[in-house]
Amino acid sequence: MKTAVRYYSRSGNTKVLAEAIARAAGTEAISVDQAGSELEEPVDVLFIGGALYAYGLDKHLKEYLKGIKNGCAKKAVVFSTSLISKHSIDLIKKGLAGKGIEVEEDSFYARSKPDAEKLKEAERFVGKFI
Ligand SMILES: Cc1cc2nc3c(=O)[nH]c(=O)nc-3n(C[C@H](O)[C@H](O)[C@H](O)COP(=O)(O)O)c2cc1C
Repeated sequence: MKTAVRYYSRSGNTKVLAEAIARAAGTEAISVDQAGSELEEPVDVLFIGGALYAYGLDKHLKEYLKGIKNGCAKKAVVFSTSLISKHSIDLIKKGLAGKGIEVEEDSFYARSKPDAEKLKEAERFVGKFI
């Protein structure tokens, strides 16, 4: 099974979570502003995450979502680390709509910086999809 993890993180919280997800998914966590973040080959599961900044997504993640090619993933699973609101999850899901990707209803949320227990939970969560 082919997996990919893409994220955007300003201050590191989402990065920590993305890296735990990537470990569990047997892949690498790649920031959306990094070279090579585009999905050239279709994957079975794309884990994609970000956080909220002033009730919106960072422009890097917004742009990345816009540029995602149709059908580049069979399924997408969303994660986020916003402090208060889970609106980021809805915004990412919205960004994935109409791309020929099945967007998993279930998502993973960690409030701000995930601790060791939360990271273990994230790894178990990944196991449901791979
Ligand atoms: C400028 C700024 C604005 C933020 N606005 C929100 C917000 O509107 N709602 C929310 O729940 N969290 C908000 N947060 C908290 C971040 O979403 C949270 O700290 C998140 O874990 C940051 O992820 P990152 O470390 O991956 O960048 C904000 C943080 C910053 C720095």
